[in-house]
Amino acid sequence: MDAKAGIELTQLAATITQAAVDVIAFTVFSSGGDPSKDAIFKSVDLTLGGALSEIARAESFDGKAGQTLSLYTNDGKLAAKRVLVVGAGARSEFTNPHIRDVAATVAQAANKFGAASVGFVLPTLGANREVGLIQMLAEGITLGTYKFSRYFTGEDHKKPTSLKTFAVITDVKGKKPTAAQQRTFQTAVVRGQTIAAAVNHARDLINEPAAVVTPAALAADAQAIAKKHKGTVTATVFNAKQCEELGMHMFLAVGKGSDQEARFIHLAYKPAKKAKKKICFIGKGVTFDSGGYSLKPSQAMEDMKVDMSGAAAVISAMDAIATLGSPYEVHAVAACCENLVSGRAYKLGDVLQSMDGTTVEINNTDAEGRLTLGDAITYTRQKIAPDEMFDFATLTGACMVALGPYTAGVMSDHEGLVRNWMATADRTGEDMWRLPLTSRLREQLKSPIADMRNTGDRFGGAITAGLFLKTFAKDTPWVHVDIAGPASLSSTRPSQPKGGTGFAVTTIVEYATH
Ligand code: BES
Ligand code: MN
Ligand code: ZN
Repeated sequence: MDAKAGIELTQLAATITQAAVDVIAFTVFSSGGDPSKDAIFKSVDLTLGGALSEIARAESFDGKAGQTLSLYTNDGKLAAKRVLVVGAGARSEFTNPHIRDVAATVAQAANKFGAASVGFVLPTLGANREVGLIQMLAEGITLGTYKFSRYFTGEDHKKPTSLKTFAVITDVKGKKPTAAQQRTFQTAVVRGQTIAAAVNHARDLINEPAAVVTPAALAADAQAIAKKHKGTVTATVFNAKQCEELGMHMFLAVGKGSDQEARFIHLAYKPAKKAKKKICFIGKGVTFDSGGYSLKPSQAMEDMKVDMSGAAAVISAMDAIATLGSPYEVHAVAACCENLVSGRAYKLGDVLQSMDGTTVEINNTDAEGRLTLGDAITYTRQKIAPDEMFDFATLTGACMVALGPYTAGVMSDHEGLVRNWMATADRTGEDMWRLPLTSRLREQLKSPIADMRNTGDRFGGAITAGLFLKTFAKDTPWVHVDIAGPASLSSTRPSQPKGGTGFAVTTIVEYATH
């Protein structure tokens, strides 16, 4: 898929005036609305004879997040050719994940300027935050230079980008970092780059058309990850016949209408030492969701290649987890198929038998995700028996109605596990919000002819989907994450271009490697 950006991250021992780079960049917080109150801004402004504060006034730059200010300087006062100031918003609100967008902004600006090297002054937010900031800075550069451009034919899209070196100044006085500091820096950079590469890989899988990313293609991708980590990761792939033998009739029904044969993917990572616990991450892998006979209108169907975003996240995360190492036995599971219409497709009124024996009457073939996940959850419980399991699914439009397009809905009846999960998401900066699993809504899932039906009423749609899955999770500690909104976005931010976002990868990796 797309070539790696290949930007080298280094540590630079130089003062701002000495740094011999194409672009010298630093942040300014919006404190008080006057950038001259910032010590670095003030000293650079002084060096440049007041030119910086003049432009800041002319362009109403006051350090708000997202603002930038740039100045070409060729009079030898600074060793750098250009100054770039990035607004960082209020200092008190600046958490570590915020540095991703700052780093992405700097990298993008450097490429626009045609610059090969950047010197970036790390904002001083306390020594205890430095490692985390450097990791997320590395993430921001890799995430912010991601482009899915393989289908453009114009020359513009083939040009290599200019930025080659991103040098971080961790000490404004230009003091040389100690050997220990250099090692800490390098570890944080590798961690950030590894995680961001996994996010970008998930983005590639999501952005590729459904004609390319078929269930078999996802299986091949998972197998390639196992091959890369031979000895620690194994891949097991079941074809339709093998799924039939396992009793996954709910999952298989969804894929029956397609000529693309379903695939059930299971990746397993085993640590060298005895594992502290066993975790399983399950992803929804519907490679295209037409809705089936409960057909979606064209506009709603347009983006339905993204319906495998959960599978993309759990598979891609395994690559980073294996690279970084985990004290846990980590599994990734994805039941992959395509939801289409044909003479073989499943129909409304059909009664399906799930892997755990529960019968389900179909009253909407567009509520297919929960059918595939139900069997994936049963497989996980029966064949893996993890201590904890999590599922990630572009499951309901209702979740987007409730929380908007940027926030995932988290449902669980295991207080301890969900608390740990939410704390992890808080550290990575992925927007997640808990919704209740209101058990009274279960009455909506009653069927007159089977144990359950697959769809409830209009109200509480995200929750009834969660309750449906709970039937199969039973007593295994479980957290359900509905990522229908944030999996793919039409509005951008610097570290997140349009299209597949790779949502959940960073939190999965963070959870599994701590
Ligand atoms: N894949 C969709 C959910 C979705 C919607 C994902 C928008 C991403 C963006 C899911 O399979 C679906 O169709 N859900 C139905 C459920 C309904 C029939 C109960 C929905 O939300 O309309
Ligand atoms: Mn659907
Ligand atoms: Zn779907």
